[in-house]
Amino acid sequence: MEVVKKIKRMKILAIESSCDETACAMVEDGVKILGSAVATSAAMHEKYGGIVPEVAAREQLKCVIPTIQEALKQAHTDLEAIDSLAVTIGPGLIGSLLIGVETAKTIALASGKPLIPVNHVLAHMYANFIGDQRIEFPAISLVVSGGHTELFLMTNKKDLKWLGGTLDDAAGEAFDKAARLLGFGSRGGVAIQEAASKYQIEKSKYQIKLPRPMLDKNNELNFSFSGLKTAILREVNKMKEKQQFGNEIIQQLAFEVQEAITDVLVGKTLRAVKQYNAKSILISGGVAANLRLREKFISTVNNQRLTTQFCVPPVHLCTDNAVYIAAYAYFRGYAVDWREITAVPDLSVEI
Ligand code: KG4
Ligand code: ZN
Repeated sequence: MEVVKKIKRMKILAIESSCDETACAMVEDGVKILGSAVATSAAMHEKYGGIVPEVAAREQLKCVIPTIQEALKQAHTDLEAIDSLAVTIGPGLIGSLLIGVETAKTIALASGKPLIPVNHVLAHMYANFIGDQRIEFPAISLVVSGGHTELFLMTNKKDLKWLGGTLDDAAGEAFDKAARLLGFGSRGGVAIQEAASKYQIEKSKYQIKLPRPMLDKNNELNFSFSGLKTAILREVNKMKEKQQFGNEIIQQLAFEVQEAITDVLVGKTLRAVKQYNAKSILISGGVAANLRLREKFISTVNNQRLTTQFCVPPVHLCTDNAVYIAAYAYFRGYAVDWREITAVPDLSVEI
């Protein structure tokens, strides 16, 4: 008689609190979402023009327990049923990180469950594995978020090598600074994407061209986006002087800044793909939610007749959540005694 082996499923409860989102998720075997809850204090920072760490930390404290309860409720389960805990330990804001880390440590102490510390930036790319996607290796992984623009070589689900990153501003930061200069407050990349989609190229009276920083530097896999802010500011001031700073110019500048950032991200990623003969491209992080970036990757791969597979998570898994924290913990993490776990705001991604 054939013996059917019962495979033990691994359920991880992950907590994410690195910035202004408080998130908790329950994920099975790193690929199946059983529950996921995200609370955000983004609207509370709007009037200050940027995230206020003190406000973010207080909101984390308020939201962390309800978020855990919500994720468990969605998963129709309780803490008893989980196999392991995972928590973001950095990089991020110290006040925010501490809330998630100390909560996870307390649950680990009370429940006796193992606790896996997670690097938030490396974790972003594991959003690509949700749904058990078949990804071919080696892969080039681009992580583009509010604080990071990093390229990695991934030789399998576990082995990563950092190839390059931004020398100054991150891509998301460039979107956010441009949004502020164009009068969109702290609505960032989403506001730029919306305004850019309204720009009608054929009706345009002006030709605004922004730089594509470091795109032509040979074999260089680093980025630099801080110059874009100065270039936009120059255009904004010029148009204000001419009293032409209206909707049409704002939409054109939004369009051009989105083109400049996405040209550089696609160009550098494809350079890495060719250097390492990669079979797949993975993108992740908040900026990977950008529709133009997704479209440009697909059209460039097609136009250059590359056989490289292009992977991007659904939009809700690009921006901060705890699903990919659990996925990273499953594929790449390891449990550490909770007494040794602490928040590390400047945790490095250069592995
Ligand atoms: O990954 P994320 O949610 O948080 C960090 O870990 O930083 O990324 C947030 C960043 C912000 O800079 C935001 O403006 C950007 O992602 N972002 C976008 C879009 N949605 C979010 N940038 C461009 N287009 C979007 N649709
Ligand atoms: Zn993030």
